[in-house]
Amino acid sequence: MKRSIVAGCGAYLPERVVTNDELASRIDTSDEWISQRTGIRQRHIAADGQLTSDLALAAARPALAHAGIDGAELDLIVLATATPDNTFPATATKIQAGLGNRTGTAFDVQAVCSGFIYALAMADNMLRLGQAGTALVIGAEVFSRILDWQDRTTCVLFGDGAGAVVLRAGDGEGTNRDRGILSTHLHSDGTNYDALYVDGGPGSTGTSGFVRMAGREVYKQAVVRMAECVDHSLQGNGLQHRDVDWLVPHQANLRIIESTSKKLDLPMEKVIVTVDRQANTSAATIPLALAEAVADNRIVEGQLVALTAMGGGFTWGSALVRW
Ligand code: ACO
Repeated sequence: MKRSIVAGCGAYLPERVVTNDELASRIDTSDEWISQRTGIRQRHIAADGQLTSDLALAAARPALAHAGIDGAELDLIVLATATPDNTFPATATKIQAGLGNRTGTAFDVQAVCSGFIYALAMADNMLRLGQAGTALVIGAEVFSRILDWQDRTTCVLFGDGAGAVVLRAGDGEGTNRDRGILSTHLHSDGTNYDALYVDGGPGSTGTSGFVRMAGREVYKQAVVRMAECVDHSLQGNGLQHRDVDWLVPHQANLRIIESTSKKLDLPMEKVIVTVDRQANTSAATIPLALAEAVADNRIVEGQLVALTAMGGGFTWGSALVRW
């Protein structure tokens, strides 16, 4: 059976760091409120003129170097983003050009904070079907451009960044001990469309807009959906909670992450956390966390890594990977 093996990871965070204290000097908030409710201490913010494609390319290059693959050789580039450079064409095509690739397929996937899991699933399916041999999957966002910086209930929660993974199709024997993506699970429920959305923006409304959110509803559903989805993926592969070496959840709020790990009987020592330093970078949080944990040798070959996310739509999903 063909499996998608993670061959490399890369990350990029903009230089500028904005602390909670800096935000508190501009709006009615405090470091205490933000850190106690969310665990966030700071976030990275893109420079003027720095676009999602710039961040994505800066994450893609180290991921390709890590995998030992030239960008020109890629068969597939999938970018998960809710903040594309332009309404069209897909920002992934700009990344493709930036990598000197003229023969692969490049497209964007839009599932907000679940975007990376969705993009990973698209790429995994194409690799397993033999439609591609190598794929670059990126999560990249410049959320700072769609925030209402006067709305303290949303602007303190997000940051900018990009993470990338390179996948290579490999031929395992089909047992759970084999390396690669074991399965992906995707869900959405559009009746929650208005719980987390941008009130305008590129497309049919013809207006520009900002993030609007029913925070409590998002919080409640995030804990339930993310844990539920990891359970489905473990059950589907005949695995138990105790088999998981690392949980890499979407990073929106430390309290959501802690509740999810509790529901899954996983101690926080087995959970990768970046939200304190990076805040919520939407589709980029999971590949950023993976790149960090691979670089510092927490995640190593042979380990079972569970990824899970929930975001606007609502959308949610999980992926189980034998590293
Ligand atoms: N600073 C100070 N006070 C604030 C701030 C702020 N930044 N934001 C809100 N408040 C105030 C409110 O005005 C309210 O004041 P009031 O009681 O006088 O009316 C009070 O704090 C409590 O507000 P709540 O919204 O009830 O606070 P809550 O405990 O629910 O925490 C939070 C809010 C942190 C947004 C929480 O609901 C949450 O994390 N939700 C998840 C949202 C999220 O992470 N979304 C990201 C995208 S989705 C995803 O990634 C899963």
